[in-house]
Amino acid sequence: MTVVLTSRDADPDRYSVVLGGQVDFVHSAQDLHGYLDGHPLEDLVVVGPDITMAVVTSLAQRYRVERAALGIVLLRERVETDVLREALRSGIREVVQADDVEAITVACRQSRSISGQVRGALSGQDTSRGKVIMVFGAKGGCGKTTVATNLAMALADLDVGRVALVDLDLDFGDVGVFLKLGNQVTISKAVQMAGTIDERAAQLLMTPYRDRVDVLLAPGRPAEAEFVKPELVVDIVNTLRETYAFVVLDSAPSFTEVSLQCFEIADSYVLVTTLDLPSLKNIKLAMDTMDALGYPRSKWHLVLNRANAEVGLTREEVEEVLGIAVMAAVPSSRDVPETLNTGGTIVEEMPRHPVSQAIVALARSEAGLAPVPAKRRRFWRRKR
Ligand SMILES: Nc1ncnc2c1ncn2[C@@H]1O[C@H](COP(=O)(O)OP(=O)(O)O)[C@@H](O)[C@H]1O
Ligand SMILES: [Mg+2]
Repeated sequence: MTVVLTSRDADPDRYSVVLGGQVDFVHSAQDLHGYLDGHPLEDLVVVGPDITMAVVTSLAQRYRVERAALGIVLLRERVETDVLREALRSGIREVVQADDVEAITVACRQSRSISGQVRGALSGQDTSRGKVIMVFGAKGGCGKTTVATNLAMALADLDVGRVALVDLDLDFGDVGVFLKLGNQVTISKAVQMAGTIDERAAQLLMTPYRDRVDVLLAPGRPAEAEFVKPELVVDIVNTLRETYAFVVLDSAPSFTEVSLQCFEIADSYVLVTTLDLPSLKNIKLAMDTMDALGYPRSKWHLVLNRANAEVGLTREEVEEVLGIAVMAAVPSSRDVPETLNTGGTIVEEMPRHPVSQAIVALARSEAGLAPVPAKRRRFWRRKR
């Protein structure tokens, strides 16, 4: 999508042909601020020839710092050198003549490409490959599968690409049960493909769940798990990251050979714990092991699940004991198991629920997006 700032009654069809795809119009700088607040992923603003240089340069200066990935392409009736100089000095990416359709198309394409690179650099990610997020917890029942499934849905809702959810609790994986996916292909099918996993083969393993989310299920029976070798899992995950923007791994509650290999290739570890002492003791031990194995702490993202539970320590105490900050605190709620029974995840069924909001915040942070502004206001008008 592209947003066009112009005070005139522009012809939307003409713009959408030139800019390729849907175009939204805003009519003042104020409108544009509101629009951009509500569209955190918008990376391109085209400014019409009627908007004064003073307005455009102040916009450019503001967003250059606030939102480095955003590009501004300025249209002018005539491109004069002093305009060009002023524009480039204030951080406007391109200035093109308003009637030069081809130049506009090229400028927009270049700006989007720069935005992609800036976003990549900001999130410390190689954007040409998907981000692998390993959800790990040192105890059964602490909420790994709940967090992994809901995180996958929340990432998909951000509309930043497709999500693969992979169940690596090979013995007792229950992602299929969580998502009500009956008899489907499982990772066991990959055993016969060992050594030849490519994108097409990986796709054959995936079960479509919903728009932008595909699932790779764990073996149907624990006896099959031993045939799924760590190298095979690594091959699959590395192949999936070529086609999916996010690969979310649900895991077994221990350091299996498979989980150790996945720690090596993951970009981020979402470490789930509840607030009770046995769970904290286990995650502390796991963290000591992770330190010993040299898994960089910059990848550690601590998630407290059932964070309002009456028994147990406070968030502050946990941070002190574990020596790392809490990235997300998911409250305890009966709605979590209840939505599970009726089918689906709480993020999909009850998006405004505090549990969903906590997981959406986690997803935004994993995607390198700013937190949602507390109160969103919609100023813009849309024309089609
Ligand atoms: N925040 C929560 N509030 C209430 N129940 C929860 C919450 N998180 C998980 N549960 C419930 O706890 C149980 C275990 O969760 P699960 O995600 O399967 O844990 P794990 O994958 O770590 O074994 C499930 O029945 C789930 O519905
Ligand atoms: Mg589980």
